[in-house]
Amino acid sequence: MMTEVISVISGKGGVGKTTLTANLADALTKQHKSVLVIDANISGANLGLHMNILNPEADLNSVLSGKSEIANAIYSHASGFHVIPASLNMASENMRGFKDVISGLVGHFDFILIDTAAGADNEVKEAIAASDSVLIVTNPEIPAVSNAALVKRLASNLGKPVKGIVVNMSRGEYLELSDMDIIKFLGENIISKIPYHDDVKQSIVLGKSVLDYKSTSPPSVEITSLSRKLCGLEEQKDSIFKTLASKIPGLNR
Ligand SMILES: Nc1ncnc2c1ncn2[C@@H]1O[C@H](COP(=O)(O)OP(=O)(O)O)[C@@H](O)[C@H]1O
Ligand SMILES: [Mg+2]
Repeated sequence: MMTEVISVISGKGGVGKTTLTANLADALTKQHKSVLVIDANISGANLGLHMNILNPEADLNSVLSGKSEIANAIYSHASGFHVIPASLNMASENMRGFKDVISGLVGHFDFILIDTAAGADNEVKEAIAASDSVLIVTNPEIPAVSNAALVKRLASNLGKPVKGIVVNMSRGEYLELSDMDIIKFLGENIISKIPYHDDVKQSIVLGKSVLDYKSTSPPSVEITSLSRKLCGLEEQKDSIFKTLASKIPGLNR
């Protein structure tokens, strides 16, 4: 089985990486793909909370420190995908060895999604290095987008392609950066634009994916579309702005 390993990264925290990773795992599963989600945010894990996996016996931390077998750290989620959580305790482990963990998992799933910490620290670097490509999550505002440029550079230094930018929590307000601003600044396409919606918050409170909470909610529709693009079932439009930006010196940072 061909496995695609994708890291979900961002420059700034709180942009919605963990929420997106959890919902995307569910959306891909609904497209009949086998999915493993890994919490690689070993210093600030919270994917398990979205998955209702609390105090797991084995987790990524105990695997990295050699205390557990990888097979014991893989949990089945009721929605049909699999999860490797990380520890909520202060992590003393480091991500050295993460690439080997991934190597042992490749071939067993269609997709491996890796939720990461924010920023371009070593923890994130190891996750990107173990991936085939990255999804960059940002909000449509200057601090998030300018920090996104840092992780974009990290991915490109590691030779990993950017699948696209996910603009999350868009409210359509006039103060937001436009799609064109974001594409020009980052020199990458927007693969998905997910609106801000209370249904996302409500679904977290209920311990469900937003798709299971309300499949017709605008974020659910958009995340489904993103999952179909990742499966090659829906076309990913190459923006004319990206093409333009790549031709104008100084625009593509
Ligand atoms: N599309 C959205 N609409 C509304 N709230 C959202 C959306 N995406 C994420 N959130 C909220 O933002 C908070 C932070 O998201 P999280 O996934 O933890 O960010 P990160 O992992 O990037 O730090 C979540 O608790 C969630 O309530
Ligand atoms: Mg997170």
